[in-house]
Amino acid sequence: MAAEPRARRLFFAIWPDDATRERLAALSGAAHAAFGGRRTPADNLHMTLAFLGDVPAARMACAVRAGDRLYRLPALSMSIDQVRCWRHNRIVWCGPAVFPAALGGIAEQLGQRLAEEGFRLDARPFAAHATLLRNADCSRAAPAFDAFEWKVNRIVLVESSLAAAGARYAIVGRWPLAQ
Ligand code: 2AM
Repeated sequence: MAAEPRARRLFFAIWPDDATRERLAALSGAAHAAFGGRRTPADNLHMTLAFLGDVPAARMACAVRAGDRLYRLPALSMSIDQVRCWRHNRIVWCGPAVFPAALGGIAEQLGQRLAEEGFRLDARPFAAHATLLRNADCSRAAPAFDAFEWKVNRIVLVESSLAAAGARYAIVGRWPLAQ
C-alpha cells in the first residue's frame, strides 16, 4: 500500500527583498545585543499574513487557489519603526507603529479567500510583525535604530520544513500586488 503523502506546513507571508532582508538582519543583530535570545536566521526573516498549519498534501491546491483568487490588492510600503518584546512568548519583533490600511486589506481578503477554500484560521486579529528573536529577555530596553521602508510588491506561500538546523522555508507560490 502506498504511503499517505505527508502534510505540508504552510503559511502566507510577505517576503523581504535582499536590501530589506539586510536591514532586518542588522536590526535583529542590534535587538540580540539588547535582549539576548535566539535570532531568526537571516534567510528566514519574513512577516506572516496567514498561518495555515499542517495542510494535507491533497489540499495544497486549495491554498494555491486562495492565492489565485486574490484581486485588486495594491502594492504598499510600510515603515519598520518599532521593535517590541512580547512577554507572554518572549518573542522580539519589528513592525510598523502605524498599521498601513493596505496591509490590513491584504490580510482580510486573504482570510476570506482561505475561508472559501475551507481553511479555518486563527481567530486572533492579524498582528503585523516580523519575528527577530525567540527566548528573549523582555526586561531589557529596545535598541534605538533608524526606521526603514519595507516595500511590499507581492505575497508568497511558504512551506516550512524541519531540518537539523531548525525551520527551513521554501517559497511555493507567488502573487504580485498591483503597482
Ligand atoms: P511567529 O514568528 O510569531 O512565531 C512560521 O511558523 C510563521 O507562522 C511564523 O512567522 C509564525 O509566527 C507564524 N505562525 C502564526 N501562527 C502560528 C502557529 N500557531 N504556530 C506556528 N507558527 C505560527
